[in-house]
Amino acid sequence: MGPSTGFKKINTAVFISGTGSNLKSLINFSKNKKSPINIKLILSNRQSAKGLRYSKIFKIKKKFINFKKKTIAEKKTLSVLKKNHINLICLAGFMKILSKNFLKNFDGKVINIHPSLLPKYKGLDTHKRVIKNNEKFSGCTVHFVNSRLDSGKIILQEKVKVKKNDTPKSLAKRILFKEHELYPRAILKIFNH
Ligand code: GRF
Repeated sequence: MGPSTGFKKINTAVFISGTGSNLKSLINFSKNKKSPINIKLILSNRQSAKGLRYSKIFKIKKKFINFKKKTIAEKKTLSVLKKNHINLICLAGFMKILSKNFLKNFDGKVINIHPSLLPKYKGLDTHKRVIKNNEKFSGCTVHFVNSRLDSGKIILQEKVKVKKNDTPKSLAKRILFKEHELYPRAILKIFNH
């Protein structure tokens, strides 16, 4: 989608629910000349999400939206996205599932990162299940989002070896480190070839 010099960057929103370490890596990436994205908005369904602090640090607009009533929340979200001319949504530890109705407004423009080698280990507690099943490898996946959990088309994956004495925590940490590098690479793959 366009060459990598002298082009207009894609207005991007990052949705988070927690720490926001992937958000931070995406922000750093977006400042790179070669990055196709410009992060204009951080959206969270949790007011206390730690990652919201990057709004102040990097001077990026933030928005909290309560998702208890999903239909209303999605309506509000759409209106905020429209107001900010957002063309790409990066989910980064966002713990809500977006409805088909919402997604049809952003067809092919919502991507997510998940800490497993999809299609294996969709959903929560991935690391615990990976270790319990004695898997030799786990990893992370960036994929397009559809209305089924962690099921959209895969963009890129990175393998991580599971060590003998790994705990869910130690494995999560090693995978997260890889995620920070994988998410920007996946975005480059989609838009810059
Ligand atoms: C990451 O492991 C991501 O893959 C998963 O939730 C975690 C979010 O971490 N969906 P952070 O908030 O980006 O630090």
